[in-house]
Amino acid sequence: MRAEDTPLIRLEDYRPSDWLIDTVDLDFVLDAHETKVRAQLGLRPNPAGQPGSALVLDGDELTLVSLKLDGTTLDAAAYSATPQGLTVLAPPKRGLTLTIETVLNPSANTKLMGLYRSSNVYCTQCEADGFRRITYFLDRPDVMSVYTVRLEAKKAEAPVLLSNGNRVATGDVAGTDRHFAVWHDPHPKPAYLFALVGGTLDHVREDYVTADGRKVELAVYVEPGKSSRAGWALDSLVRCMRWDERVFGRNYDLDVFNVVAVSDFNMGAMENKGLNIFNDKYVLADPQTASDGDYASIEAIIAHEYFHNWTGNRITCRDWFQLCLKEGLTVFRDQEFSSDERSRPVKRIADVRTLRATQFSEDAGPLAHPVRPRAYKEINNFYTPTVYEKGAEVIRMLKVLIGDEAFKRGMDLYFERCDGTAATIEEFLACFAESSGQDLSHFARWYEQAGTPTIVASGRYDAAARSYTLDLAQSTPPTPGQPQKAPVALPIALGLVGKAGDLPLHSNSNAYAGDGLIVLDQPSLSVTFTGLDEAPIPSLLRGFSAPARLELDLADADLLRLFSADSDSFNRWQALQTVATRALTSAGRGALSAAGLADKATELAGALDAFLRDHALADPAFAAQVLRLPAAADIAREIGRDVDPDRIHAAHRALSAQIGKTLADRLSSLRDALDDKSLYSPDATAAGRRALRNEALGLLATGAPETSARLADTQFSAADNLTDRLAALAAMTLIPGEAREALIRRFAERYAAEPLVLDKWLMAQALIAEPGTLGRVKDLMRHPTFSLGNPNRVRSLIGGFAANLTQFNRPDGAGYDFVADIVIALDRTNPQIASRLLGSFKTWRTLEPGRRGLAQAALTMVSRTPNLSRDVADIAERALA
Ligand code: BES
Ligand code: ZN
Repeated sequence: MRAEDTPLIRLEDYRPSDWLIDTVDLDFVLDAHETKVRAQLGLRPNPAGQPGSALVLDGDELTLVSLKLDGTTLDAAAYSATPQGLTVLAPPKRGLTLTIETVLNPSANTKLMGLYRSSNVYCTQCEADGFRRITYFLDRPDVMSVYTVRLEAKKAEAPVLLSNGNRVATGDVAGTDRHFAVWHDPHPKPAYLFALVGGTLDHVREDYVTADGRKVELAVYVEPGKSSRAGWALDSLVRCMRWDERVFGRNYDLDVFNVVAVSDFNMGAMENKGLNIFNDKYVLADPQTASDGDYASIEAIIAHEYFHNWTGNRITCRDWFQLCLKEGLTVFRDQEFSSDERSRPVKRIADVRTLRATQFSEDAGPLAHPVRPRAYKEINNFYTPTVYEKGAEVIRMLKVLIGDEAFKRGMDLYFERCDGTAATIEEFLACFAESSGQDLSHFARWYEQAGTPTIVASGRYDAAARSYTLDLAQSTPPTPGQPQKAPVALPIALGLVGKAGDLPLHSNSNAYAGDGLIVLDQPSLSVTFTGLDEAPIPSLLRGFSAPARLELDLADADLLRLFSADSDSFNRWQALQTVATRALTSAGRGALSAAGLADKATELAGALDAFLRDHALADPAFAAQVLRLPAAADIAREIGRDVDPDRIHAAHRALSAQIGKTLADRLSSLRDALDDKSLYSPDATAAGRRALRNEALGLLATGAPETSARLADTQFSAADNLTDRLAALAAMTLIPGEAREALIRRFAERYAAEPLVLDKWLMAQALIAEPGTLGRVKDLMRHPTFSLGNPNRVRSLIGGFAANLTQFNRPDGAGYDFVADIVIALDRTNPQIASRLLGSFKTWRTLEPGRRGLAQAALTMVSRTPNLSRDVADIAERALA
């Protein structure tokens, strides 16, 4: 496949399906190499479609065994079937039943789409268009059907047989070693939410009663012997179910809810109705094999997939252009859940870091696209940070703009009005326009326009008039296909900080919405605040109220004032980050001398020292975020052109080292104070203390490597949990030498039987910022834990390397060539993983000319490879355009 030969699918070309499928009866006889599928489809012409149309069903690599219409075998001339589709040429213009038999080889399915095997377990992944790899179907989300599924398998091979909905029958197949289960899902659903699981699995379970009185059996299924690691996922499930009842008024709607963990999975997890299937890294947790970060991700992803039951499943998407309708909204919901379970400011800071690292960089490069794309060649390439994270930011802004009450009423209206339908962004927004009485047509631009807006702000104090005027302007840079940009509606939460804290805000300006909110929806405007007896320091974009870049005309000294005095935690954190970012971008551009950077380091260390002294022990999780400087990749993104990764890295190391050295005593005593002797608990408070203690270790490792190697070694030996051991390993990777190699070996020995832990070990090595890393990564590809067939292994080792700023971007281009070769090899077995990996090239145009040329050559080499998948061809084409 070459990208230019692939049809472009356009939003404006949407039209309803000519046929509907009301009922689907599926019968699977599971076999590792020859699974038989019989699908009985209850079809009827769609009143909203073209009357008298041929019946054209989607397929992908299918083998047709037989075909009947209303029980009668169809004449060969009456239809045409290929692996890619099935057309019934002149179907009767009425309701009819089509019975389709196909045969599949799940063991040969390396794409992990459709029905496949993962460690001897049968499982499925159908979103976005994998159902057509199981049977011929109208594989589009606006075709919703009631499913009944019969599964049959050898009892010994698959004692557990699961599908969507409720179990309605089970039994033995008389006279055989086989058994069966029948599942029925009363809720009409699109095919992408179909799932089945068959295999030998252990489980943990719990009874749950919903707020409206329904008894639900919850269960989490895992590989045999691992049920002791399933408790946290189950606990998270119960907590998020209660939360959705309390906060969104949403109850669960079936008698069972099953979660299954599998070890080969392209994504993180999937929200199949009543049967969520997870990458096992987002289910399995115990203190020895999961880090604090893993516990938090499991909680968030269990919640995310569960929340889809209402935002995604009950209300699904009309077409894949509306993907953010379910994903952006559900990310927003899972972020809110985690904020309520943990620390809201810390969660916000973590989410904004991710947004900037993934979405801002996407928006600034060749793969930029709107939250609702207008066209695509391969939908799997649009499960992006823009659709997900920016999609969630858009909802967050909507809430700020219309207020909490109107937002709540709008959500309620949406659930009521759109329940059972395949909806659009327009229908969603109409609910909030109605609940708030506001015209949201301007706001809707957020869905159409790509690119990250920049807000330029400057302020003037007039002592005589006792007033302060803020001048605000916005602009959005061009993105592919969108050279001209219109202003968007930017909610700017703000405060004016005086000597004794926040000053009262009085303004008659139109753009001031009250309650500390300015709405910047024009190219520029000014807002004047009155009654001010002192010159304030503006604190803008509090809580990161809009996904924009802020260029604020404030001196470092004023930022450091905000760092200590702002009432908004996010902006306290942001203020210090901005000071560090400014210094590092100047140094990274070669515009700040080593001595100049050293002066900044001294200033920053002073501010940090006072902060740690006064606040570290009161809120360690927040302090850990403060202590973590912007990453080198953040600086590269800020610089944005002619990037020299080595110079940025050197500046970054120098700044960390000096701060680490200057604060050595403070950090060491802090580490002692945070050295908890109590038993490990994954809760946010305990995790926050570990986070700060380990952040301090990282700074010490760059500042005082000699003593820190011993410190890391001791921590590794003394630790009773994976978090502390991983932090020891990470700190040690900063310190070249035999001690590092010894710890790497020890770690591997200790966790030899734990592939998910070894993933972190692979990643830690792939991220070492030294020229030897490429060779090390190549060696690790021969380690017994590694396999190109397992997405988690590939993401850790190869994805880790591709995220290594200095080594992926080696000046000799060998990093690009290595990743490009792997993309090409992987494309033959798993195009989705290959295309995600190729996405690592998305910032290539920002590099200095030498590297830029080498990266372009590697990308061109990929794009010219014969027989590329649509997935990889599309990314290569867009990246080079
Ligand atoms: N619906 C997606 C899973 C998915 C993604 C299916 C791409 C097909 C293609 C699921 O709800 C999801 O969003 N999963 C995320 C994790 C989530 C917490 C953001 C994932 O898999 O990364
Ligand atoms: Zn999702």
